[in-house]
Amino acid sequence: MLVSAKEMLDKARAGKYAVGQFNINNLEWTKAILLTAQENNSPVILGVSEGAGKYMGGFETVSAMVAAMDKSLGITVPVALHLDHGTYEGCYKCIKAGFTSIMFDGSHFPIDENVAKTTELVNVAHGLGLSIEAEVGAIGGEEDGVIGKGECADPDECKMIADLGVDFLAAGIGNIHGKYPDNWEGLSFETLAAVNEKVGDMPLVLHGGTGIPADMIKKAISLGVAKINVNTECQLSFAAATRKYIEEGKDLQGKGFDPRKVLAPGFEAIKATVKEKMELFGSIGKA
Ligand code: 13P
Repeated sequence: MLVSAKEMLDKARAGKYAVGQFNINNLEWTKAILLTAQENNSPVILGVSEGAGKYMGGFETVSAMVAAMDKSLGITVPVALHLDHGTYEGCYKCIKAGFTSIMFDGSHFPIDENVAKTTELVNVAHGLGLSIEAEVGAIGGEEDGVIGKGECADPDECKMIADLGVDFLAAGIGNIHGKYPDNWEGLSFETLAAVNEKVGDMPLVLHGGTGIPADMIKKAISLGVAKINVNTECQLSFAAATRKYIEEGKDLQGKGFDPRKVLAPGFEAIKATVKEKMELFGSIGKA
């Protein structure tokens, strides 16, 4: 059931668990995530970066695929279709294409410009029943060519952006996209606690969910994180399972070259990763 992400995240924040945002790249990704959510009675957010949207043929294609698949597979758990790290223009494209949630990433703008653009987009999104996420303090690492330095957010700036009426807020707390380097210092719980205190009961978003140890995830949830984004980890599981299939020469046996067979191990691997995350985040049975 396609819905905005507001209600599921308000419930998660109040119930002290988090809903996973899993980024999609194609039909297999989408199907694997939707089925895993349904099988585990968990709400879920499908994240689409601008690059992945382009890769899949544009936001209209993505929106039509997700809406049709949600219906055809008989998905009854709440599902939000969410633009990940949207530009100002990208937000408008996704609103038009039928997404149910957007993220405006104005973190690289001077704060005044971030405020002005976020205010405008909050009004437009809410007028149409969509939820909206904003970001303060850059998330480090590289995602789809967007490189962030990984600064910790300023709690006062978080309060300023939260007060504009956004539904959930991503605050940089030393998290980065992609794999964490060996010398990573870990999440800054000091920053998270300070942000949480300033923004009241607003659901907070933890980007860069790949590779964050379970104890840090649990502590982040206890400090107001209600949405955790995972992208790279599904890509790694998919690639490893596909590599194994090819290296074992299974594509050369019988009809093993059939794309439905070649992509099957990767599909199952995504399902296993998503389930593992849902267990860790505590969203199973919460639909
Ligand atoms: P990872 O790729 O590190 O899991 O991060 C995903 C993310 O934050 C998407 O916005």
